[in-house]
Amino acid sequence: MSEVAKIELEGKVFELPIITGSEQEKALDISKLRSETGYITLDRGFKNTGSCQSAITFLDGEKGILRYRGYPIEQLAEEASFLEVTYLILKGELPTAEQLKDFEENIDNHTLVHEDMKRFFEAYPAQAHPMGILASMICSMSTFYPESQNPNRSKEAFELSINRLIAKLPTLAAMVYKNAVRHPFMYPKNDLGYIENFMYMMFGMPTEDYEPNPVIAKALNKLLILHADHEQNCSASTVRIVGSSQANLYASISAGISALWGPLHGGANQAVIEMLEMIEKDGGDLDKWIEKAKDKNDPFRLMGFGHRVYKNFDPRATIIKKACDDILGELGIEDPTLDIAKRLEKVALEDEYFVKRGLYPNVDFYSGIIYRAIGIPTEMFTVMFALGRLPGWIAQWREMLDNGDPIGRPRQVYVGSTKRDFVPIEKR
Ligand code: SDX
Repeated sequence: MSEVAKIELEGKVFELPIITGSEQEKALDISKLRSETGYITLDRGFKNTGSCQSAITFLDGEKGILRYRGYPIEQLAEEASFLEVTYLILKGELPTAEQLKDFEENIDNHTLVHEDMKRFFEAYPAQAHPMGILASMICSMSTFYPESQNPNRSKEAFELSINRLIAKLPTLAAMVYKNAVRHPFMYPKNDLGYIENFMYMMFGMPTEDYEPNPVIAKALNKLLILHADHEQNCSASTVRIVGSSQANLYASISAGISALWGPLHGGANQAVIEMLEMIEKDGGDLDKWIEKAKDKNDPFRLMGFGHRVYKNFDPRATIIKKACDDILGELGIEDPTLDIAKRLEKVALEDEYFVKRGLYPNVDFYSGIIYRAIGIPTEMFTVMFALGRLPGWIAQWREMLDNGDPIGRPRQVYVGSTKRDFVPIEKR
């Protein structure tokens, strides 16, 4: 007999099935609530509402746990390659050596983008934000590969669309960067690894040899793994709801890129560095900025702090903070913003306002310091987040379709004008 919860509405008792997940999370199944009671639930920002059952990522916000398909990110970040984790997130199991080799070769076959896509860049203004270009480019991929638009495509066609996207996103991201700095595009070199090829296309020049720095490649590998999925975050939920209308993969991922761009979400990594630079320029008075962040009448927020789910610590921030010290040390870089970030974290975590609200550094607080140390410009930071999050978005989109989840269409509580008759303009 499955567990039920009982609610009483207008003197009548209704039973709601209780669903228990594999990590003993509990949920009230309200799928029949309206048809049986006439009531709906209201939960702004879906803070207490599950949208789906998923087997991809488990996180426990209180305990600071994050696992992809059951594997702790601490182990994956240290020991796996990003494409290995991509395979795991997409297919549910770690690949054998042969499966990984096949997967890597499949990706290598699709790293070039259609030559006509280069013409898009001629139209963008010089200061175009990379995320605006990237979102457009990814949606435009569906026009270059019209077979991707067929909702009833075969498994092979699915795989091809997915492999094309995983292969081309780094190429497009590097083209966005080269366009911004007005340098020539670099074509992919498929004898390089996925991360190293991206570095080559980003930092290489046609006039000189380029050897990817292994310290930087290792740091990027770790960062992309730490961003690879995060269950039903804003952008993944966006990808799911867009895909639930049977919009194609590229259109769905483009929507996810747009959602990620927001400074409350993935855009925070750019906002953190801009905040730290502003504090430094303002003389480094941390108490002043902490007070501004606490002041409800002040729009300033401590960017990179706080999280919808993590209320003790974001395990990714812990790993990235340590990686900051390691990488800056190995590269021999002194970055004053790292010192400000650490002091800001210390001051904030000694302040009751932040501790009471469970506001700790999140994944975006330290990541920008590493991106900057390896030569990535601030406006490209959220593009890096998108590169890392791509496997998660694809897996969430695919799981939604495989599970036959219905088109996403939330209800509302109407609070506008009740019925009233039209008044001709001469009588108003
Ligand atoms: C990501 O969901 C995910 O998984 C996202 C992500 C992923 O991997 O996909 O982890 C990536 O988006 C990380 C978050 C990056 N965003 C930022 O760093 C922006 C700064 N943070 C905040 O805007 C905020 O903390 C959010 C958006 C992250 C979370 O917002 P919530 O869950 O809606 O919480 P809230 O806004 O209701 O805040 C609760 C309280 C409020 O105060 P009270 O009304 O209780 O008095 O905490 C305060 C807020 O004012 N608060 C902050 C704060 N964050 C929350 N006060 C000052 N500075 C902050 N950063």
